[in-house]
Amino acid sequence: MANTHHALTRQTNDLDAFWLPFTPNRAFKRAPRLISRAKDMHYFTPDGRAVIDGLAGLWCTNAGHNRDPIVAAISRQAAELDYSAAFHFAHPKAFELASRVAALAPADLNRVFFCNPGSEAVDTALKIALAYHNVRGEGARTRLIGRERGYHGVGFGGISVGGIVNNRKFFGTLLAGVDHLPATYSREHQAFTKGEPQWGGHLADELERIVALHSASTIAAVIVEPMAGSTGVLPPPKGYLERLRAICDKYGILLIFDEVITAFGRLGHAFAAERYSVTPDLLCFAKGINSGAVPMGGVIAREGVYNAFMQGPEHTIELFHGYTYSAHPLACAAGLAALDLYRDEQLFERARRLEPGFADAAMTLKDLPGVLDVRTVGISAGIDLAARPGAIGERGYEAMERAFHDEDLLIRITGDTLAIAPPLIVSEAQVAEIFEKTARVIRAVM
Ligand SMILES: Cc1ncc(COP(=O)(O)O)c(C=O)c1O
Repeated sequence: MANTHHALTRQTNDLDAFWLPFTPNRAFKRAPRLISRAKDMHYFTPDGRAVIDGLAGLWCTNAGHNRDPIVAAISRQAAELDYSAAFHFAHPKAFELASRVAALAPADLNRVFFCNPGSEAVDTALKIALAYHNVRGEGARTRLIGRERGYHGVGFGGISVGGIVNNRKFFGTLLAGVDHLPATYSREHQAFTKGEPQWGGHLADELERIVALHSASTIAAVIVEPMAGSTGVLPPPKGYLERLRAICDKYGILLIFDEVITAFGRLGHAFAAERYSVTPDLLCFAKGINSGAVPMGGVIAREGVYNAFMQGPEHTIELFHGYTYSAHPLACAAGLAALDLYRDEQLFERARRLEPGFADAAMTLKDLPGVLDVRTVGISAGIDLAARPGAIGERGYEAMERAFHDEDLLIRITGDTLAIAPPLIVSEAQVAEIFEKTARVIRAVM
């Protein structure tokens, strides 16, 4: 008892206890990058430095940071209803937000299941896909098809269908019965493309090969990111998503779009599904739903998928799945305020308008030493730097450090690839500033 009291009142505050996710902890703790405040396009360090946010937090603060209407909505909601379960009970804003999301989504994507992070959205979609076939009497369809270089979060489902070796190799046998489409990226054929590359649409036909190998009768779903963000901004080749959709239709396979990054404006539309005029059966979202303010994700299902579950006695649960914090009141309130901001400030249209200038500014990096590729789509850019011999990722890490400490710029790295995807409120002058700073960083690490 005395010890517990002591532990609760102890005032130690050092860097040891916090095990940072997806971070080299020792390097970080030697030279920490601390952020204590934010407003609109900027973070502020504890010593007051303003750092321009070149990554919308982590691809999530699409409306910018600490926007007054979102802050006010969260604060009002916390005072009114801090928590209520979504199992057997619900609060009105959960229905309101689901209706708003359904209205925004294309075609008959109009049933919304809420969870928290993107990883849960992915696991939710995979489970809905498996259960969907099960309730329709096609329980042999258990196979899930992902894609090399895909990132679908860190749940066991997500890393199984994901295609990033370091996210997989430490974690045992993963899900059984998973296969992968090939990655859509080829530097040889696509380097320095703005928007969707001409080459690569045919890679969707690899699904035919997978079907021929396993039989469609064993395949539940295919999951892809319309634009793969985490492995360095890989836009879909022209025609690729349409072909995937056609092959899935041909064989009764569900198509899942993981739009955790692309939903809510990143590609200049509410959803990538809208930009590419391809409607998946299940669509995962998170991040931008409330501009990153409170953890929230979800899955939008086509009406027919939802309806397949609505059978049997009415007192029985139709889908044995859900989270304590599904449709958390604070997340819903923040979501409604963020959707209002997206609408009132026309942020998706703004992203669309900014896209050509953003792509031009990114391409100014093309001729810098060591730049192997620059790719852009919507308000996002991936820049591949040549790795240092025998030290993959070292140059990228140094670039991120230098950007933060020397240039007051926050960018993301994956190995030696830099990613830039600022909030959609970014001004043209700030786009120029971000890429000028990035150019200085690239020169400095070469
Ligand atoms: C496409 C995609 N899916 C899933 C996730 C996982 O989201 P979270 O980190 O919120 O679990 C991410 C995160 O960046 C993502 O980009």
